[in-house]
Amino acid sequence: MRIGLLTSGGDCPGLNAVIRASVLEGIINHGDEFVGFRDGWRGLVEQDVIPLGRHDVRGLSRQGGTILGSSRTNPFDGPHGGAANIRNTLKRLGVDAVIAIGGEGTLTAASRLTDKGLPIVGVPKTIDNDISGTDYSFGFDTAVEIATDAIDRLRTTAESHKRCMVLEVMGRHVGWIALYSGIAGGAHGILIPSQQRSLDDVCGWVESVRRRGRAPVVVVSEGFTLDSMEEPHSHKGLDAFDRPRLGGIGDIIAAQIERRTGVESRAVALGHLQRGGAPTARDRVLATRLGMAAVANVHARGWGSMVAVRGLDIVSVPIAEAIAELQRVPAARYEEAERLFG
Ligand code: F6P
Repeated sequence: MRIGLLTSGGDCPGLNAVIRASVLEGIINHGDEFVGFRDGWRGLVEQDVIPLGRHDVRGLSRQGGTILGSSRTNPFDGPHGGAANIRNTLKRLGVDAVIAIGGEGTLTAASRLTDKGLPIVGVPKTIDNDISGTDYSFGFDTAVEIATDAIDRLRTTAESHKRCMVLEVMGRHVGWIALYSGIAGGAHGILIPSQQRSLDDVCGWVESVRRRGRAPVVVVSEGFTLDSMEEPHSHKGLDAFDRPRLGGIGDIIAAQIERRTGVESRAVALGHLQRGGAPTARDRVLATRLGMAAVANVHARGWGSMVAVRGLDIVSVPIAEAIAELQRVPAARYEEAERLFG
């Protein structure tokens, strides 16, 4: 078969490992041919295509970003968008199937296109780990490692100055990165979108840490809202999907902690550092297994399916099931961590 690959939405460590694994699996074990669409759906809609041979994916597992480029183009927009145009484009290019590697937005578009009969299978990607149907998405482990390393580093400078440090991590709708890095780094408080907390709670943790003579460390997801806030904090305008660009809640919380408790406080926003650089070994393995499984789904003609990991097994689930709701942090998981706060 001739298979087209695309990576769409925000990038994520492990995308290249998926590309490599799909291409190798298809060429070695099925005699497939591959092309890559540049910049996500844009490349498919505008026929911006590059050949992907074995040589092109050499050594790619360890490389961050995506060699295909990514964008947040909606495949239904523009004069060449929409299912009918895309069907004709695939025919013209001789492409039999598309493997779409992306997050919630990409998978939603893929699902709509497969409803119209297009041959697409999905691979979940997100550092936020918010896609349902899969226990984990690749990129998450790398982001957690980077955030944990940041906490370890912040701790030593915090202790030297007896300051409070607030680390802001990504997580638009869910708090998995904050929860995992916070637990791993031994944070004294973790703030996530699904759990509203008050400044009194946060200051209570900080004061209790200070009473023991330690320097408090608090981790906050960018999408966290204090109980006094209606919406997540945003002051950077809108993104390509007209969603508010988040970021800055760490600064607000650090300033309030200092004002209320008198403990000198600093905030650090990790931002895109969490998405850059080489994937961890765990993410490379997951991405490789998912990339290989996606090719199997193509040969099984599993259009509208998404590859996923459940426990130790790679499985296939309907994309529709995966996008029905976000994978949020269950309250019990937060409450478990909370027992050690302060
Ligand atoms: O979707 C993943 C994510 O990391 C979110 O947590 C964050 O809000 C967003 O990407 C930021 O992405 P960009 O700056 O590329 O729009």
